[in-house]
Amino acid sequence: MIIVLFGAPGVGKGTQAAVLATSLNIAHLSTGDAFRSAIAAASPVGILAKQYVESGALVPDDVVAKIVAEALASEKFAQGAILDGFPRTKAQADALEEILASKNQVIHKVVNIDVSADTITERLLQRGRTDDTEDVIRYRLDVYTNETKPLLEYYSEKGALVTVDGLGTVEEVTNRILQAIG
Ligand code: AP5
Ligand code: MG
Repeated sequence: MIIVLFGAPGVGKGTQAAVLATSLNIAHLSTGDAFRSAIAAASPVGILAKQYVESGALVPDDVVAKIVAEALASEKFAQGAILDGFPRTKAQADALEEILASKNQVIHKVVNIDVSADTITERLLQRGRTDDTEDVIRYRLDVYTNETKPLLEYYSEKGALVTVDGLGTVEEVTNRILQAIG
C-alpha cells in the first residue's frame, strides 16, 4: 500500500509517518530525512542538496526522483511505502507514477494534513532544526504554496485525496488519518 503524507512544512508529516509505519507495518520514506543524512555524510547528493535544504528551496526534481526510485527498489518497500514530503511538484508526481507503474503499485491515498500557518510557525520555532528560523520557515511556506499546493487539485481530480485536520494531539491526528485511509 502506498500512502502519501502531504502538507506544508511542520504539519506533522514526519511525526505521523513514524506512527503509521509502526501501526500499518509499512516502511516510511522521508525525502527530507534522506537529504539530511546525505548532507551529514557529505555524499555527492548531500553536497548538492545542502544549499537547497538550508535555504528552504526545493532540491531539483531529477535528484529527488532518483533518490526515491533507488530507495523504493529496496526489499524494505516491497509491501508499499508511507511517503513523507514527496511528491512536492508535478514533475515529482509524474516520476512517482512511473516508479509505481514499474512495480505494479498505485497510490492508495494522498493524506493532506491541514494546519494553520501560525501554528506551523510556532511548532517549527520550538523544534529548532537548522532550517527552522523565522525567515527560512516563511520561505518554506511560500515554496509550499507556490510549488507544492497545486498538487492538491491534481490528486483530488484523481480521487485519491483526503484531508484531515492536523490540530490536536498526535494520537488524535493518527486516528483521523487511519479513518480517512479506510
Ligand atoms: P522536510 O524534511 O520534508 O521538511 P518540511 O516539509 O519542511 O517538513 P518538516 O519536516 O519541517 O515538518 P513535518 O510535516 O514533517 O512535521 P513534523 O512531524 O516534523 O524537507 C526539508 C527540505 O528538504 C526541504 O525544504 C527541501 O529543501 C528538501 N526536500 C525534501 N523533500 C523534497 C522534495 N520532495 N523535493 C524537493 N526538495 C525536498 O512536526 C513538526 C513539529 O511539530 C515537530 O517538532 C513535532 O514534534 C511537532 N508536532 C507534530 N505533530 C504535532 C501535534 N499534533 N501537535 C503538536 N505538535 C506536533
Ligand atoms: Mg518532516
